[in-house]
Parts: sequence; structure tokens; C-alpha cells
Amino acid sequence: MLCQVADTGCEILLRSESETLRAGKIIAEVSKGVGIIYLSGSLGTGKTTLCRGILRQMRHTGSVKSPTFTLVEPYEIGDYRIYHFDLYRLGDPAELEYVGIDDYFSQPCLCLVEWPEKGNGYLPKSDLLIKLEVYKRGRIMRLCAGSTLGETMSARLTEDFPIKTQDPD
Ligand SMILES: Nc1ncnc2c1ncn2[C@@H]1O[C@H](COP(=O)(O)OP(=O)(O)OP(=O)(O)O)[C@@H](O)[C@H]1O
Ligand SMILES: [Mg+2]
Repeated sequence: MLCQVADTGCEILLRSESETLRAGKIIAEVSKGVGIIYLSGSLGTGKTTLCRGILRQMRHTGSVKSPTFTLVEPYEIGDYRIYHFDLYRLGDPAELEYVGIDDYFSQPCLCLVEWPEKGNGYLPKSDLLIKLEVYKRGRIMRLCAGSTLGETMSARLTEDFPIKTQDPD
């Protein structure tokens, strides 16, 4: 089970790419550089865009692409350590043991994990599980908090963006 606590049921609307980037900015602000964020959703739903928004707010100035040939892209920005995982190509979740997955999660850092379901059973619990889905010309973002940090992130995001039930259709 990816979401181990009661789903907060928050569904917000991100109407453009720039709104996804702004959601990332908010997550980074609340995180203060620490936390585990799972990013779930089919291909092309905006997971990497959200990571880009987070990393930009953490003062990363270069490009942000999903790691393709490695599972993880590390970023060292000042005192901050950010690890961007993309587990899409992971064949067997047990392979995560060979890359020393526990070492990444046992230090004070921000871990962003695309395709967390591929690592089922080998990843620690997340502070926030984000599920992205295409909706009209934008995206729906579903938020599922796993800790008080995740609850704070979720609360900040629902303050800043319209929730889906307010969409007139
Ligand atoms: N809220 C949004 N509304 C409309 N388009 C968006 C939104 N957020 C991101 N996009 C667009 O979605 C496309 C795919 O984004 P992105 O590469 O971040 O997806 P992804 O989920 O990481 O895909 P993959 O599973 O292939 O890694 C990009 O063209 C991006 O501009
Ligand atoms: Mg991606």
C-alpha cells in the first residue's frame, strides 16, 4: 500500500505547467530541504515538472531531467541534499537493495521518487504521496499525507490552488 494513512481526499487543480512548477515551489518551501515525496501518475502527467519546481525553489539553476540510465540524480545545493529517483525502468524492486537505497533515506535530505510503485516493499513511508492525472487541459493533483510534514504541505497546496469540487465543469 502506497498510502498508509487515511487519504486526506485533497484534489487540487493545476491548470498549466507553470502551476505545477508553483506547486513544487510550495512543497520545497514547506520541506526546508527534508522529506520523502512520492510522485505517482501515468507517463507525461507532470511528475518531473513538479520536481523541477521543487529544485528551482531550492536554488538549482541547471536543467532537471529524469534520471534515465541511473535510478537517481543527486543534487548538492549548499547544505542541501536532494535525490531525484525515477524508478520507471526498475525491473525488480529488490534491485533497490543493490543501489544502497537505505543510505539515501537515512540522511537528512529531500527525496523525490517518481514511479514509487515500482519500488514497492523496498522504500520507506512517504511524507506526501502525490498522484497526478490529466484533467481537461491541465492536471488533477491528489494529495495523501503520511506525516505532519505532509499534512502541512497538503494544507499549503489546498490554500493556494482551487480544489476540484469547485470546478464548474
Ligand atoms: N498542470 C499542467 N497542465 C498542463 N500541462 C502540464 C502541467 N504540468 C505539466 N505539464 C506538461 O506535461 C508534460 C509532461 O510533463 P513531465 O515530463 O513532467 O511528466 P512526467 O509525469 O514526469 O512523465 P514521465 O512519466 O514520462 O516521466 C510536459 O509537457 C509539461 O509541460
Ligand atoms: Mg518524469
